[in-house]
Amino acid sequence: MTHKIAVIGGDGIGPEVTAEALKVVQATGVAISTTDFDLGGARFLKDGEILSDSTLAELRKFDAILLGAVGSPDVPPGVIERGLLLKMRFELDLYINQRPFAGMAPGHTKPHDFIVIRENTEGPYVGEGGVLRRGTPQEVATQGSVNTRMGVERCIRYAFELAAKRERKHVTLVHKTNVLTFSGNLWERTFNEVAAEYPGTGTAYNHVDAACIYFVQDPHRYDVIVTDNLFGDILTDLGGAVSGGIGVASSANLNPARTGPSMFEPVHGSAPDIVGTGKANPTAAVLSAAHMLEFLGEFRAAERVRAACVAPTSGSTSEVGDELARRVAAG
Ligand code: NAI
Ligand code: MG
Repeated sequence: MTHKIAVIGGDGIGPEVTAEALKVVQATGVAISTTDFDLGGARFLKDGEILSDSTLAELRKFDAILLGAVGSPDVPPGVIERGLLLKMRFELDLYINQRPFAGMAPGHTKPHDFIVIRENTEGPYVGEGGVLRRGTPQEVATQGSVNTRMGVERCIRYAFELAAKRERKHVTLVHKTNVLTFSGNLWERTFNEVAAEYPGTGTAYNHVDAACIYFVQDPHRYDVIVTDNLFGDILTDLGGAVSGGIGVASSANLNPARTGPSMFEPVHGSAPDIVGTGKANPTAAVLSAAHMLEFLGEFRAAERVRAACVAPTSGSTSEVGDELARRVAAG
């Protein structure tokens, strides 16, 4: 079966790293067909298109979406993030953001290996709120956080299902239940109820500020972490920083119910400071493509790509891509 992949290279280094990821996927021998979509900051500046409903309808026909990065210094912040990335997450119901972290944190001699499951369609990211009397001394800004039982439960359930398949079988809830008592209570109660269905899985709870300390000082305590949209966004940048850096941090935006395509992208952005220099590390994009292969049921190919990324690489963007493709072909 040929998997139909929609490719959004995007801006800056996005197209550069995506090309290398596709090179490595080709080396697995898995049959894919790709269709390029010109979207992102550059496209917006050209003709105003961010993500129209007709383009979204086109994207729905694919088995998966591979995205590089979007965002341009010439576009005001939020325009592309909300109009393209968040619109895809909400409209395609990509309710799980899965980000794996493995490596050796600075100052440690023992490697860690954990996965953050971030709720991806609710919380403060829904855009609830508004501004009154803008620009005046009486200005008011509110930004709500939406948490539904359904949304919280499906996310927590996914984390427990994932942990059940892992060796350590442990899930940590990260929140701020001592201050965000309304949403925190919903998360905590749901977590405890779902946990009762998985007696073989260990559990823990950390406040998000404490989790920041543990990410640096004791990342080994974690197996699977489940958390809200905003906490997950912030924590996973720290996760990347203690796990080999932004150049290797991969992510998947999943619709586990499979009512549409899922979207796979590196954590990093378009890095306008290094575009065209060959300095972009394509490994994060390659590992995101490995997750795509796994989600498409190509388990053996996904394993080969991940194995190829374990040993260090050096060289330009395309040299690293060539080396990873060579390892995959040989593996
Ligand atoms: P960034 O992730 O693009 O860059 C941060 C730093 O990391 C830069 O010094 C960059 O050179 C370096 N870097 C990033 N990826 C790298 C790689 N693969 N290899 C080596 N070095 C790498 O974040 P920044 O600068 O805050 O944002 C740039 C643009 O990207 C903005 O427009 C932002 O909105 C957008 N962005 C888009 C994301 C996405 O498409 N999912 C995520 C984050 C930012
Ligand atoms: Mg982020």
